[in-house]
Amino acid sequence: MVKSDEIIKKDKQYYLQGYTRKEVVLTEGKGAVLKDMEGKEYIDCFAGIAVTNAGHAPERLVAAATKQMSKLVHTSGVFFNVPQTLLVEKLAKITPANLQHTYLCNSGTEAVDNAVKLVKKYAFSRGKTGAALIALECSFHGRLGVAFSLTGQAKYKKGFGSYANTPGVVHAPVPYCYRSRLSEEECAEETAERVEDTINRHTAGDVAAFIMEPVLGEGGIIVPPAGYYKKLQKILADYQIPFIADEVQSGFGRTGKMFSFEHWDLKPDLVTMAKGLGGGMPIGAVIANSDIANCVEAGDFFSTYGGNPVSSAVALENINLLQDEGLIENSAKVGKFFLTQLKEYQQKFDIIGDVRGLGLMIGIELVKNRSTKEPAVKKAKEAVSLLLKNGIIIGLGGIHTNVLRLQPPLCITEQQASTVLVKMEEILKQL
Ligand SMILES: Cc1ncc(COP(=O)(O)O)c(C=O)c1O
Repeated sequence: MVKSDEIIKKDKQYYLQGYTRKEVVLTEGKGAVLKDMEGKEYIDCFAGIAVTNAGHAPERLVAAATKQMSKLVHTSGVFFNVPQTLLVEKLAKITPANLQHTYLCNSGTEAVDNAVKLVKKYAFSRGKTGAALIALECSFHGRLGVAFSLTGQAKYKKGFGSYANTPGVVHAPVPYCYRSRLSEEECAEETAERVEDTINRHTAGDVAAFIMEPVLGEGGIIVPPAGYYKKLQKILADYQIPFIADEVQSGFGRTGKMFSFEHWDLKPDLVTMAKGLGGGMPIGAVIANSDIANCVEAGDFFSTYGGNPVSSAVALENINLLQDEGLIENSAKVGKFFLTQLKEYQQKFDIIGDVRGLGLMIGIELVKNRSTKEPAVKKAKEAVSLLLKNGIIIGLGGIHTNVLRLQPPLCITEQQASTVLVKMEEILKQL
């Protein structure tokens, strides 16, 4: 029988080695539990980077995929197909009423790039160039195309020259209160004001859009403070700048609501989605308001695989499942359970500088020293490895790579969460 060592060796020989991978070969999963080639079980607290929100291999998704696979796998964008139509209808129903028109693609990066293409055309239709795009520092929007330039973290960009810096893309400061040395109130006020400064100082006033993850994911699970969005939205409205909410990571119940922007009174003009949308099938989407969508002409957009019947059928069933089985409510409930316990750990262990999150999108920021907040990068990496050895998969992120990320499938139970917390406590003690 083939062993994981052989697979890892072969992968290193033949797969382009652009990833930092864990030395584990996963073979199957059910709910919030994964199994590797040797049969070892893991409680999954990362969901393939916030993707398998309905859990691994839920029967309803398996049935939807199998049924659609046996009928029709592919049409291309040249023809209509039933699942894609039903999916875009569903997306219009679960988003605010002004968002009605969806374009389907294959990933989060594509969703972001398509959103950019839409706002550029919208600017053109209003007699403008839409030369500038504003994103936030610490953000993540993808690693290809304009999405790569929008990503506000230097660590991903080394060696890629101008490919990583599309002209016109500028970054405004992020409302990352923990590292701002300001009170939450001041941080909200100051960083929203800095968006206005960015418009006035770093662009010629011709801004096609402002893009932001309502809760930042890769940047270290950053939840903007109360008051930030009110001020931000006022600035964007005053300057008539469309707001793209990038919900690729924070959408589909991840934060305890269908979309994370629902935690505030946010009114995006476009929303990008992927990850949790397809429950594991590759799919991305951008939904836009009518003014923006109506400036598109036939022939402007096309994707061979976009709106693929199998991905669409599974995505539709996935959204229905999240709603029918109370998984979004479970995300809020188990998320609160995790947060309460983790805040207690924060009192006990000096290494925990900050604990933050919404629903099952939780970050634990490790520091060497609570006053200087020097990032505990090595210990964070060690914590992830020790947990993995102990049968628990978590993520790692943050601009300094010192934030432990808990983003499990939304079907995780309180009992599984308790097991994770007990192991975490043991490991925090060791560290
Ligand atoms: C907020 C956000 N946008 C876009 C992307 C890119 O998505 P993908 O990896 O599917 O291209 C990611 C991926 O982590 C993300 O977190």
